[in-house]
Amino acid sequence: MPLQSRRYFLGLSTGTLASALLPAPVKRLFAPPAATCTVHLDQPLGDINPAIYGQFIEHLGRAIYGGIYDEPTRSFRPDVLAKVQGLRPTLLRYPGGTVTKIYHWKDGVGPNRPVRKNLIWGGNDSNHVGTDEFMRYAELVGAAPFLTVNMSTGTAEEAADWVEYCNGTDTYYATQRQANGHPQPYRVQYWGLGNEEAAKEDAGTLQDPRDYIKKAWYYAKLMKLQDPSITLIMAGDQEDWNRQILQELHPICDYLSLHLYASSKPGDPASLFTSIAEMEASIRRTAAQIKALTPVRVENFSKWYRFPSRQQPVRLAIDEWGIWENGGRGAYGLEVTYTWNHALGVACFLNIFQRNAAAIGLATWAQTVNVLAPIMTDDTTSVCQTIYYPLELYRRLCGTRSVAVALAGAEALDAAASVSADGQTLTLALVNRDSRAAVPLRLDPKIVGRWTAHELNAPSIDAANTLQAPATNVVSYQQRTLPAGASSYTCAAHSITLLQARLR
Ligand code: AHR
Repeated sequence: MPLQSRRYFLGLSTGTLASALLPAPVKRLFAPPAATCTVHLDQPLGDINPAIYGQFIEHLGRAIYGGIYDEPTRSFRPDVLAKVQGLRPTLLRYPGGTVTKIYHWKDGVGPNRPVRKNLIWGGNDSNHVGTDEFMRYAELVGAAPFLTVNMSTGTAEEAADWVEYCNGTDTYYATQRQANGHPQPYRVQYWGLGNEEAAKEDAGTLQDPRDYIKKAWYYAKLMKLQDPSITLIMAGDQEDWNRQILQELHPICDYLSLHLYASSKPGDPASLFTSIAEMEASIRRTAAQIKALTPVRVENFSKWYRFPSRQQPVRLAIDEWGIWENGGRGAYGLEVTYTWNHALGVACFLNIFQRNAAAIGLATWAQTVNVLAPIMTDDTTSVCQTIYYPLELYRRLCGTRSVAVALAGAEALDAAASVSADGQTLTLALVNRDSRAAVPLRLDPKIVGRWTAHELNAPSIDAANTLQAPATNVVSYQQRTLPAGASSYTCAAHSITLLQARLR
């Protein structure tokens, strides 16, 4: 059932005699909004790590071949590249995902590339896109690379060789990279140890957390001996799995991975927001577990490991997040059409990341092109789905320090607030999840700077951008400066607004 909020309409809320005597349209002019928004600049919620604005690409269906890469011309598709660049991803995760369990990086470098069957997702992998092409793509879109290693059909030595290939300077695999035309090390910082290793249906063998722990130590040792400066993302899962991983691996675990896919019930678009709220609960539970089970830094680490222990708190790597609806097309139904309702959901997710900023070290939206993606392609054209727009807007405008914000009387609204690095600009992110009613909101009177509203909206929550009408964009963007001294703002039905004010 759509969220209802008729009570947000202005009316007799002041209860004054004058108000009671006035005809309804005039009352609307005088009565202040019932809903209020208070920003607590003195209640910091942590730094918003820029790495939360990442993307993920996998050897899956048309994500890479037919997505970012054009097989016939053996080149990146310029139309898609421009759209990915527009998303300004800070981080790019590759090559999987589940495919990691059968992926061998050595197939994807140098002049001779074997064609392999993609045993996980179907079809063949020409390996025309491999490590060097991925690095080039990450560079072109301005993202830091994040590689996930194979812990199932691969070996610890193979993973350490990959670290050497990427980050080494003068040894065997580093010279192979140089021979392949890349003289400078890539300096890959982020390395994922496996992917969803607890999943019993997958092609892995580590569903018993004790097996994962044993193997992860071995991988970490060999990889860190190649480059002690790398940071490791360990596979997370449910509470019991996470407890064992954190207890045993915390000296070398920089991030614990958490995958969050929201969905809605058929015919019930508002249920998406319930699903997304459960994601916030999951983030909070896992963050609390990390806090309870791991020291902020690890002292007394034996020098015989020959690499340093963790010196920063363990943080969450939400290295797959998104909205996974049934009924999509393509491989495993993963080519999902996203409506405007889904875009509202994306903004709610991003608000959650801001509210829980202190616990989250990185996040990568799953995925980027064609697969659960903001960008869709056919052979000749590409479109930005509705969800592209909140991803872009938040990345462009939100601040880097999260602060608390309190809403009262505004159940349909979801909010987060952030302050820019220089402390000068406040950005208040507001999502009106109500599909029908606008929500007038009394703004915090403490904020005296003039507000500018950046609003995204669409004609209805069902509106979508599709390849059938590539020239039509259902998403509207409006920027307007509110009158000086404005004390209220009306969040239009099903809107996303970033309200910005100068603080000094
Ligand atoms: O993003 C699609 C798939 O979802 C990934 O390969 C896997 O890690 C997850 O289950």
